[in-house]
Amino acid sequence: MSLKTIKASALEDWLRHRYFDAKIDISGSGVQDYSLAELVSLTSLTFEDLGALVFHDSPTLGAEPLRAAISDRFDPRRLAEPMVTHGSTEAIFLALVALLSPGEEVVVLSPVYPSLSAVVEAIGAKITVWPLDPAADFAPDLDLLASLLHPGVRAVIVNFPHNPTGASLDDAQLDRLVELVDGVGATLIWDAAFAELTYGTSCRQPEPGSDPRIVVTGSLSKAYGLPGIRIGWCLAPPDLLADMVRIRDYVTLAASPLNEMIATAVLRAADRVVGPRLAKARENRELLRRWAADQPELVSLPVPHGGVSAFPRFTGVADTTDACIRLADEQRVLVVPGACFGHPDRVRIGFGNDSDALAAGLAATAQLMSSIAQNDHTTGTSSC
Ligand SMILES: Cc1ncc(COP(=O)(O)O)c(C=O)c1O
Repeated sequence: MSLKTIKASALEDWLRHRYFDAKIDISGSGVQDYSLAELVSLTSLTFEDLGALVFHDSPTLGAEPLRAAISDRFDPRRLAEPMVTHGSTEAIFLALVALLSPGEEVVVLSPVYPSLSAVVEAIGAKITVWPLDPAADFAPDLDLLASLLHPGVRAVIVNFPHNPTGASLDDAQLDRLVELVDGVGATLIWDAAFAELTYGTSCRQPEPGSDPRIVVTGSLSKAYGLPGIRIGWCLAPPDLLADMVRIRDYVTLAASPLNEMIATAVLRAADRVVGPRLAKARENRELLRRWAADQPELVSLPVPHGGVSAFPRFTGVADTTDACIRLADEQRVLVVPGACFGHPDRVRIGFGNDSDALAAGLAATAQLMSSIAQNDHTTGTSSC
């Protein structure tokens, strides 16, 4: 295998072809996006600061004020080094390419956000799947993980809170997971894109660093409502970071100083930026829960513990792909077919945005699924 043969991301292909035409978009994994003017009112950022910015190159690891803001919020004990990246997508890519070699064994959650497995496969590493069981509402089974681990495992890759299911870990489970991975000398790669969107259980993220070897990636795209700013980061052991820099020199070199300036102000005012979006997500999660509870014969919903995506199943619809295509084409309602995550009997629904749109999108989805189930039109294609 080589990066040239990396497989297409079914999720991105699905969204790329429909995202800009949707009238009701309940497909995403983010919250309502912020405007620049809103950020100026919520943070210390001013339009004068923006006007005074000169477009010098930024340092490879990121502007120092932003690196400090990342460490203060996500690694206050300074156990690892931060690197600013183009979304967490770049952080994940660089970390995996820097860490892994062909033939090495890597344990990866399933279902999983495509980057976390496709890059591993393209490198030629061998994936051992740690499945989240739909029958257990996708709750992570740490005994099962323990049974998959042995000293030959190079890395364990997880994402909690989890996209698409909303599964999460409590503190004791997190500590056990770290202990298990460390016990076999593997590196833990923890995708924390949704770390600040949790309900009830805390879903602490592990402390990054060299001992145990833990890489944590994060993003302004989800809880912060800034997917277009393309700012993410990773906190990694210094030796791994040096290898990531070597690779980055041929890919993106550095981030934009404009985006870094905005990102610094945002992280320094994080609670004010995330707070309203988390409150909306809580309200919408309740709406989603009631929608499912009102029609138990049709919808079975693992209630998300974190993130803003849910992964319900619809009784009598073995493959939702055709229905999702119809929703998009006929009603311009956008959801994501579960086939994009290897579970064709499910649909990913994003609940981080406008409540009225969510209610309308859920109603349209349930209505179509119900009519399909009644007419027993269950034969869809499972590629999305
Ligand atoms: C679990 C997860 N990780 C990482 C990403 C990448 O996000 P970004 O590159 O915008 O930070 C996403 C985006 O949907 C995601 O869902």
